[in-house]
Amino acid sequence: MTKPLIVFGLETSCDETAAAIVSYQNKKFELLAHALATQYEIHSQFGGVYPELAARAHSKNMLPVINKVLTQAKIDKSRIDVIAVTAGPGLVGSLIAGVTAATTLSHLWQKPLVGVNHLEGHIYTNLINNPQISWPAIGLVVSGGHTLLLEIAQMGHYRLIGETLDDACGEAFDKVAKLLGLGFPGGPALSKLAQSGDAQKYALPLPLNQRNNLNFSYSGLKTAVVHLVHKLGGSANLNDQQKADIAASFEAVAIQSLVQKTIRAAKQIDARTIIVGGGVSANHLLRSELAEAATQNGLHLLKSEIGLCTDNAVGITMAGAVKYSLSPNDEKSTLKVNPVATIASK
Ligand code: KG4
Ligand code: ZN
Repeated sequence: MTKPLIVFGLETSCDETAAAIVSYQNKKFELLAHALATQYEIHSQFGGVYPELAARAHSKNMLPVINKVLTQAKIDKSRIDVIAVTAGPGLVGSLIAGVTAATTLSHLWQKPLVGVNHLEGHIYTNLINNPQISWPAIGLVVSGGHTLLLEIAQMGHYRLIGETLDDACGEAFDKVAKLLGLGFPGGPALSKLAQSGDAQKYALPLPLNQRNNLNFSYSGLKTAVVHLVHKLGGSANLNDQQKADIAASFEAVAIQSLVQKTIRAAKQIDARTIIVGGGVSANHLLRSELAEAATQNGLHLLKSEIGLCTDNAVGITMAGAVKYSLSPNDEKSTLKVNPVATIASK
């Protein structure tokens, strides 16, 4: 029996400094360790990610996070076979921090280096328990920077079949949360507040509802919330119940759009499975609505555990393991970052 491939991975595309160690053998993954340093306190004062400070914080957090996973996994670094790192998409300074660290480790430890697409990492996180997948699948990647639908013939074979024409869904959650004075990142706070609100209270437009295409749009919905708040006398004059009702009304429409397009896409390509990833896939309403719609349509739904929906290095390391084992000669001694990398073309 051959030895398992031990992969060390880094993710720093936005504001989380994350590392993981994964073992991969006979197409099966085992998570040996993962750690993450969040920059929540740095960016919350600005109400959004401040790119320069994010890059600096990555450099500061890098070594402690790396040491943490090495200790957790209880393996010596000599046992690591490959180093994987997010090469894009993401914030350029943040990506450079991760790629520089990974390149340095690759030279120090004399190990090959592979670059991974951040969006692919969000999909791979779903495979951590080695589920049996019936292909083809629809991939829904929904985060603070992306909202897109992929036709996945099998892992690694992606076709982009829908994407947002303007804002990402998570970005809209964050902006509406900011308008309601909920801090940053706003998605989880808005979703919590929505639980005590009435989703029927305010009628908001379902984006691109009339068209049969698979694209998303969130800027019109966000603007409709801005107008609604203005009509109600401005943010400062909203009472707690009004805020909760606005949060619930917004969340219901934002999630309905994701579910509607995902099921439409699944029907169009005759998919057997839905794979959802990215920060917004931690949203309880999305998870329950998508599960119900999947069951109704005879589709299997794969979703990550809540703690692995937002950015982390687990999926990145898994994707790196597969990439390296398929093409071991594709390893790099240097890597270029690509802030606008895509996962597939239309
Ligand atoms: O994947 P991610 O960590 O970073 C990007 O790649 O963008 O996603 C972060 C996004 C943020 O916009 C955040 O507000 C959103 O995911 N998010 C949520 C929830 N948890 C995180 N949005 C709605 N409901 C949630 N529970
Ligand atoms: Zn992400």
